[in-house]
Amino acid sequence: MRKNIVAGNWKMNTTLPEGLELAKQVNTLLAEECPKCDVVICVPFTHLAMVNEIIDKNKLGLGAENCADHKSGAYTGEISAAMVASTGAGYVILGHSERRQYYGETSEILRDKVRLALDNGLTPIFCIGEVLAERENGSYFDVVKKQVEEGLFNLDAAEFGKVILAYEPVWAIGTGKTATADQAQEIHAFIRKTVEEKYGKEVADNTSILYGGSCKPSNAKELFAKPDVDGGLIGGAALEAESFMGIVNAFE
Ligand code: 13P
Repeated sequence: MRKNIVAGNWKMNTTLPEGLELAKQVNTLLAEECPKCDVVICVPFTHLAMVNEIIDKNKLGLGAENCADHKSGAYTGEISAAMVASTGAGYVILGHSERRQYYGETSEILRDKVRLALDNGLTPIFCIGEVLAERENGSYFDVVKKQVEEGLFNLDAAEFGKVILAYEPVWAIGTGKTATADQAQEIHAFIRKTVEEKYGKEVADNTSILYGGSCKPSNAKELFAKPDVDGGLIGGAALEAESFMGIVNAFE
């Protein structure tokens, strides 16, 4: 059966010393607990190799927040999936709405990134989610379905089985406005049905679908109690070790 996962997305926050301190704190708090979910931190590229040295990888997974859509070569400033994997990281966030919105990432680009991530043994945390206007005009089912189909349905079932999905409604990211647990359940169930129609019930039942968007210790328990919400992708609340652990501990 699918895993419950709480993953932090630090975004463009923390200098290297600050990031190492935060990773150390999360690692220390985790050492004292037996969390009922997998725990991952996705950190800036510059932090990966050093964070990898100081965390207990048996308890805390490590991921990047992006990778390049090319294998290697003359792409100044880009970081390849192979480079990410070589730091010891095991995960990579792909298709975050901030990347789609500010850096023009299309489904075509994301297909290449997913392929390269999988080829390098990284687990993609693939983000989908609608903007406010799409939520309000009711097109959010179609929008999310299209993102999943276009970004991932070129994979075979075994490959798809390695992907973690993260539903992040753009209107809830960093706004303090969380989707209600019922709203999350509705769309997560729809996403799972979409996966089932393509890959069958077993693959769909084994796919972890995380919720992201203003998830905090105070609302995580209610969200994670929903049958199709398998954890969270956490932005702001992951920047403080105690609040991140408060969300991890929402799984009892
Ligand atoms: P916040 O938790 O800050 O709303 O961010 C969510 C997110 O974008 C995680 O990827």
